[in-house]
Amino acid sequence: MKHLIDPTDLTREETEEIIDLALDIIDNREKYAEACKGKKLATLFYEPSTRTRLSFTAAMMELGGNVLGFSDAQNSSVSKGETCADTTKVINCFADVIAMRHFEEGAALVSAMNSRIPVINAGDGSHAHPTQTLTDLLTIKREIGRFDNLTIGFCGDLKFGRTVHSLIKALSRYEGVKVVLIAPEQLQLPDYMKKEVCEANGIPFKEVTTLEEVMPELDVLYMTRVQKERFLDEDEFDRVKDCFILDSSKLATAKPEMRILHPLPRVNEITVDVDDDPRAAYFRQVENGKNVRKALILKLLEWKDDPSKSTRLIPEGTIRGKYVCRNPRCISNMEVGVESMFRPDAVHEGEYRCVYCESKPKK
Ligand code: NCD
Repeated sequence: MKHLIDPTDLTREETEEIIDLALDIIDNREKYAEACKGKKLATLFYEPSTRTRLSFTAAMMELGGNVLGFSDAQNSSVSKGETCADTTKVINCFADVIAMRHFEEGAALVSAMNSRIPVINAGDGSHAHPTQTLTDLLTIKREIGRFDNLTIGFCGDLKFGRTVHSLIKALSRYEGVKVVLIAPEQLQLPDYMKKEVCEANGIPFKEVTTLEEVMPELDVLYMTRVQKERFLDEDEFDRVKDCFILDSSKLATAKPEMRILHPLPRVNEITVDVDDDPRAAYFRQVENGKNVRKALILKLLEWKDDPSKSTRLIPEGTIRGKYVCRNPRCISNMEVGVESMFRPDAVHEGEYRCVYCESKPKK
């Protein structure tokens, strides 16, 4: 059985298989209208969502399946103190596949560790968001036609933006990809992403502080919202909230074939006058999200009983119970019964990373 907790749970080939299936679904919607007849998707959303939850729902409905779940943890037994592990075991009795969004980093992993049905991570804190990555990849495929030899600029909140982390991981498997990081000092890409993902995979990256200086070289500009809900200090948020605003005038030096992506929702980081520019792909991206989720659900249900398809949830060399994670939002610090697990750092010998959230241990 396969889960999708991190984009690298899918091989490059499996990822492309899903993208290709999504393309076929776009061309032949009717062919798939009953493909999930009698199947149920549970959407367990502990955190706000519009696109992700509704696109999962629309996807399952268009496949002829059914959807159950909650969109507000206050209406579920979580408000009574139920753990993610127990909720998962319960939902296993009701559904065939789970899509979970949670504010705790590592929640989807804990769910998968306790599940007999596939679990899809629909966003865990500021950590990962692999189905947005599939959406982004399908959009890049349709708009640009390739994943190789892309120069992609990520702009805004690269620290807390889980969509950024997951997309960089997925693209780091392609040749000739160059990453440009456009962020203020306080919102830079986490250290593990720079070292274990970019450097370890030979992906060149540069950090800049203005959009203007890099605009002409970009094939893709990936804009993001400053993730207000992740800030522990409101003054800190106020200092960076308007750090980058893309308007039509800034696009003057961009390539005509460049594409602007944004996982949405937007706040003020793209002005509405940009929406009419043919390079603005973010509303087309939303439609791709529904179709790629249809493909993902179909593939995970197909792979469920295939013994050659399995997800390694606990990496080799994992040490249990020895260290404590330094990230206060990690599920290992937030829920009872979640054992601490650390894996060896891919780059630095003798260093460890939390299996749930990739942070370092507390000193
Ligand atoms: C993103 C998310 O939830 O991480 N939205 C989405 O899923 N489309 C980005 C965001 O909330 O800013």
